[in-house]
Amino acid sequence: MPRLLEGKTALILGVANRWSLAYAIAQAFAREGARLILTYQGDRQKLTVEELAAELKAHQTLACDVSQDDQLANLTSQLQSQGTVLNAVVHSIAFANREDLSRPFVETSRAGFALAQDVSAFSLVAVARATAPLMPPKDQGGGSIITLTYLGSTRVVENYNVMGVAKAALEAAMRYLASDLGASNIRVNAISAGAVKTASARGIRGFSKMLEGAAHLAPLRRNTDPAEVADAAVFLASDLGRGVTGNVLYVDAGMQIMGFAGLE
Ligand SMILES: NC(=O)c1ccc[n+]([C@@H]2O[C@H](COP(=O)([O-])OP(=O)(O)OC[C@H]3O[C@@H](n4cnc5c(N)ncnc54)[C@H](O)[C@@H]3O)[C@@H](O)[C@H]2O)c1
Repeated sequence: MPRLLEGKTALILGVANRWSLAYAIAQAFAREGARLILTYQGDRQKLTVEELAAELKAHQTLACDVSQDDQLANLTSQLQSQGTVLNAVVHSIAFANREDLSRPFVETSRAGFALAQDVSAFSLVAVARATAPLMPPKDQGGGSIITLTYLGSTRVVENYNVMGVAKAALEAAMRYLASDLGASNIRVNAISAGAVKTASARGIRGFSKMLEGAAHLAPLRRNTDPAEVADAAVFLASDLGRGVTGNVLYVDAGMQIMGFAGLE
């Protein structure tokens, strides 16, 4: 059987370690035959990402802190100068100050709010602008941009706070980008993943309880497996997803449909 991403090149931003959702996505993309380019945020992640990239037989690793315009410009020019054509881009990046994920939302600082928006939402716009010019013309397939979001964008999830507001902005940005880039046959979608224990998730106070609660309440009565999120990303990056843009695809064991349960 032909592999779903054979002949495609994918840029994946957001691998920090082997628990990262971006790493699960990179594994699935490699399995499906994609040529991988991974980025790392800075020197602290460089070695780990290079080791993981070697295991995945990735083509290349590049530095890219998405809060730095010069690094994004550098990413574009490096890829352009080597003639890289990108078929898929995965944006799996978020950040907020730890204190903004533990004190009441009403006490969010101006600086903390701006930081969460910049790194977790605006960065999708910046990454799309930096990478769309590297995608094939529309009659040669265009491209697929995928970001990662969470239910806290539309529902109040205790302690998710400033990140929930950033995810709401991220999802809105995803829709505006889908509209802008659709004429070039570039599709932009978000995967709303159920809670998964990763380094970022551990910054959310009470996260273990959130995991336990979701496993009881979700229709599938279990937590989300990162591999399920990754397979949804394969679908969106592949030709199977060619008619899908501007969507939030929930891969969360069904958690997003639930209100109250267990009252009897
Ligand atoms: N873990 C979950 O429960 C869950 C659920 C839904 C959505 N998500 C989303 O999935 C995405 C990936 O998170 P994760 O859970 O895999 O955690 P993670 O900590 O493994 O990944 C977050 C990544 O963001 C990167 N990052 C932060 N600031 C950056 C910057 N300025 N420049 C470049 N990279 C930067 C980090 O280096 C890291 O690789 C995030 O958008 C997160 O909100 C996670």
